[in-house]
Amino acid sequence: MSFPFQLGALLHEGKAKRVHATDRTDVLAVEFKDDATAFNAAKKASLAGKGVTNCRISALLFDHLARRGVPSHHLGLLQPGWVAVRPVTIVPLEVVIRNRAAGSLCRQLPVAAGSLLEPPLLDLYYKDDALGDPLLTEARLERLALVTPAERRTIEDLARRINAELQALFAGVDLDLVDFKIEFGRDSSGAILLADEISPDTCRLWNRSSSDENERILDKDRFRQDLGGVVEAYGEVLKRVEGVCPEPGFYR
Ligand code: TMP
Ligand code: ASP
Repeated sequence: MSFPFQLGALLHEGKAKRVHATDRTDVLAVEFKDDATAFNAAKKASLAGKGVTNCRISALLFDHLARRGVPSHHLGLLQPGWVAVRPVTIVPLEVVIRNRAAGSLCRQLPVAAGSLLEPPLLDLYYKDDALGDPLLTEARLERLALVTPAERRTIEDLARRINAELQALFAGVDLDLVDFKIEFGRDSSGAILLADEISPDTCRLWNRSSSDENERILDKDRFRQDLGGVVEAYGEVLKRVEGVCPEPGFYR
């Protein structure tokens, strides 16, 4: 593998990515894995090609958002399956935006699957696998003091802007952005940046021209529900997004 820097130590291994140090100040290298997990890693598999596909989708989406003024950790693609990012300290919040009811919302509340949520729902979860990423209440969020009130406003404003931009992008390629999860981090100056990834692992995407409720699924629900064709569905998302986005930027 050839990188524009010396690859350093493995700093962190998550369920879907590995984060490596580099010999450049302020640059980390992130490797997308083929591993897939669901239900807090109770279900696991390796899906050949998922890492490279998700990496490219995520790079295209972060570039798209950057052109629209969304600050993120993303610096550019390195090679298939690898991106360069700015180091951030992850804020332990999973920020979920829901445009339509699906998944846990329908399990927890009497809301019909697929119904439109207008305005979109924004749910905050405490990012902690050992605790099962619990949904936060206002009082619990205040008690944990994970973010200042100003950071909270920044995160929620950015999340809603990101939703509007991604909804429009996906609608243009006949995909319905049902919901998604994003994460934020603080850089060395304390600024809040969009971080982690945005891919069919972290979004629900439905093919708008399919009315079949299983066939239309082009995201990790194919894996969660054993529908098969997971990587093929992710490939379809990539093909569509590539069709309307410029080539992803490389980090040199
Ligand atoms: P949920 O229906 O399980 O609450 O998920 C909402 C959205 O968040 C869905 O697009 C999947 C995504 N998500 C993640 O990316 N990681 C997670 O750990 C969970 C629970 C959901
Ligand atoms: N990402 C979580 C897990 O690994 C949950 C999910 O996406 O369903 O288990």
